[in-house]
Amino acid sequence: MSAVDLTGKVSMVTGATGGMGQVIATELARMGSTVVVVARDTARGERTRQRIAQDVGTDRVEVLKGDLASRADLLRIAETFTARHDRLHILVNNAGAHYRRRLVTADGIEMHLAVDHLAGFALTVLLLDRLRAGAPARVVNVVSESMSDTRQIKILPWRPRPVTLSAEDLHDLHHINPEQGFTPFTAYARAKLLTTMCGYELAGQLAHSGITVNAVHPGLVATGIVDDFLPRPFKPLLRLIQRALLTPAEGAQAALRLAAAPELAGSTGQYFVRDTQSRSPEVSYDPALRKRAWAVSSSYLDPTHHIVGQ
Ligand SMILES: NC(=O)c1ccc[n+]([C@@H]2O[C@H](COP(=O)([O-])OP(=O)(O)OC[C@H]3O[C@@H](n4cnc5c(N)ncnc54)[C@H](OP(=O)(O)O)[C@@H]3O)[C@@H](O)[C@H]2O)c1
Repeated sequence: MSAVDLTGKVSMVTGATGGMGQVIATELARMGSTVVVVARDTARGERTRQRIAQDVGTDRVEVLKGDLASRADLLRIAETFTARHDRLHILVNNAGAHYRRRLVTADGIEMHLAVDHLAGFALTVLLLDRLRAGAPARVVNVVSESMSDTRQIKILPWRPRPVTLSAEDLHDLHHINPEQGFTPFTAYARAKLLTTMCGYELAGQLAHSGITVNAVHPGLVATGIVDDFLPRPFKPLLRLIQRALLTPAEGAQAALRLAAAPELAGSTGQYFVRDTQSRSPEVSYDPALRKRAWAVSSSYLDPTHHIVGQ
């Protein structure tokens, strides 16, 4: 991959202050790309910028400050990027989080939905003009295979439990991942499912545009999020479990490949589990539900938006 030359290209990576995102941003910079990292914390953003600059020996790293849980920040990030850059070639929507209890953003949206789905959705839509100008361009959404099986502990030999999603769930953003029956891991998986579905929808809309959109599960990777996932009784085993997982550098490879590998230039509207093209849950292939997922997600950027079929 380091043989790929991204000189003159511009990439944006979210969640680059930690885990896999830092590796993805560093490696894209190493390939020659200007890299814009999005960080909610100024100090962490600056440390990331310095670390990448030092590792790679480049000053082509920029930090855009913003909390991905905030619609206002997303609008500001896109506006600032648009003012500074006339093209975007690679957008890696990598940031993600798992919360142990139900939290709601200042915009009234359940937190997993906001950070794990709507942030990437909004950045992609808001930067579409810049992606069009940068074509051939690639959007990579880092999702999770948890959407195909919402059991956190899979030691029992029962069948996988894919995350559920119905048309009724998609009437109103405020009703997705509701208080009643709330389970954090399922809420996280549902957000990732929505990202995958909207990615399929967008890939269809952008056919022949030169912009590809793919989703990837990176594998199980020893990063901060694993600590958040692990049920409390398993906490004492954290170190042991982490040793059995991929390193962030290993986990980052799948997203990097989708972002830059020449052999994947034509691949779009696909879901990969690491490097293997895979199937997401059956519900994600329902065209009507996909359109609804797109419409309800769009209402985040335009709260007056009327969802067809309501
Ligand atoms: N690790 C795994 O096994 C695994 C498996 C499947 C999928 N994934 C997905 O892989 C992606 C990368 O995760 P990781 O494992 O590398 O996790 P990580 O080490 O916890 O990194 C998450 C990144 O997202 C950023 N972030 C979280 N909330 C944010 C917010 N509100 N605003 C701005 N930035 C925010 C964090 O920034 P701060 O530094 O500010 O916290 C951090 O840079 C995620 O989408 C995750 O869902 C991970």
